[in-house]
Amino acid sequence: MMVDLRTSYLGLRLRNPLIASASPLTGNLKSLRALEDYGAAAVVLPSLFEEDILQDRHALELALDAGAGVSEVCGGYFPGREKFGGAVEHYLALIDRARSALDIPVIASLNGTTDFGWTELAARLAAAGASAIELNLYDLPLDLVQSGVEVEEATISLVKRVRTALDVPLAVKLGPYYSAFGQMAQALADAGADGLVLFNRLYHPDVDLLRLCAVHNLELSRRHEMRLPMMWLTALQGQIPVSLAASTGVESAVDVVRYLLAGADAVMSTSALLRHGPKYMTSLLSGLEEWLESRGFDNINAVRGLLATHGDTCTRLQERDAYRASLHYSQPTAR
Ligand SMILES: Cc1cc2nc3c(=O)[nH]c(=O)nc-3n(C[C@H](O)[C@H](O)[C@H](O)COP(=O)(O)O)c2cc1C
Repeated sequence: MMVDLRTSYLGLRLRNPLIASASPLTGNLKSLRALEDYGAAAVVLPSLFEEDILQDRHALELALDAGAGVSEVCGGYFPGREKFGGAVEHYLALIDRARSALDIPVIASLNGTTDFGWTELAARLAAAGASAIELNLYDLPLDLVQSGVEVEEATISLVKRVRTALDVPLAVKLGPYYSAFGQMAQALADAGADGLVLFNRLYHPDVDLLRLCAVHNLELSRRHEMRLPMMWLTALQGQIPVSLAASTGVESAVDVVRYLLAGADAVMSTSALLRHGPKYMTSLLSGLEEWLESRGFDNINAVRGLLATHGDTCTRLQERDAYRASLHYSQPTAR
């Protein structure tokens, strides 16, 4: 039996639900090509950070100051303007080369700090040929006087402004830590997001007990981290008019199945691909196909969201009763 893996995400038609999420692996043409060859249905480029552009500007100003008053004869010693402004130009060139080299959609990712940065850069990434823009919302509200409502309103207003500046689909990749995530998701849909990526993964620093300082090492994800995104996928699936992408914790093909059952339109992977290399995409895909075939499903729409649509407590992950039951059953037995 041939299994039809085609899906749609952000209005883009994908040959299957697997997307390589933003990471260094999607930052160069060689691995982008490999990801496509091994079956990725779309790629998300690493985020362009507004700070990188500000650093470029700062470096340019320093260089121009250093060169002030030096005669033109010295031309060539002080770097010209073209040597700076690198971050944006590099990124636009990456979009252009990736679009020319690949047949699958190339999604650009942006992490801004200013209103101008978000809207202007998003428009430039779209104009450079990105198939869609993913906003990488990563901001810890550490200000003790800013309320939750203010944080949420600022985010919603940002999404509205970026939406207005764009003529390509817009995805919002965000964390789970809102007081009412469901309402926030609905508000982002109302603001014009075409899709949500659940979730952005916070990189909590560790503590170095010898040097008594924070350690900012990045650990790759593990399967247990899927549970929170799965829960919200089941809660949101069919409830809001946007595409839902699952991101975090995929280790193998059955995890892709889990996310589809929870209601994902697309499933993203980074850690597994970094661990095993781009070729691992083929294992994820063939494993997905085999699982579906062995259960008699001939397309992924037949399994998508099954967890959310079944009404009993066994499948409704978010149910309060299930929570109580799990506490009961997980009591350690007294010795
Ligand atoms: C080395 C590395 C670099 C990453 N860079 C980005 C990035 O530039 N932008 C972004 O939105 N997410 C970035 N991420 C997060 C991933 O896209 C992904 O959301 C996260 O790793 C969770 O997925 P996973 O469990 O499959 O790894 C990065 C992750 C890793 C491990």
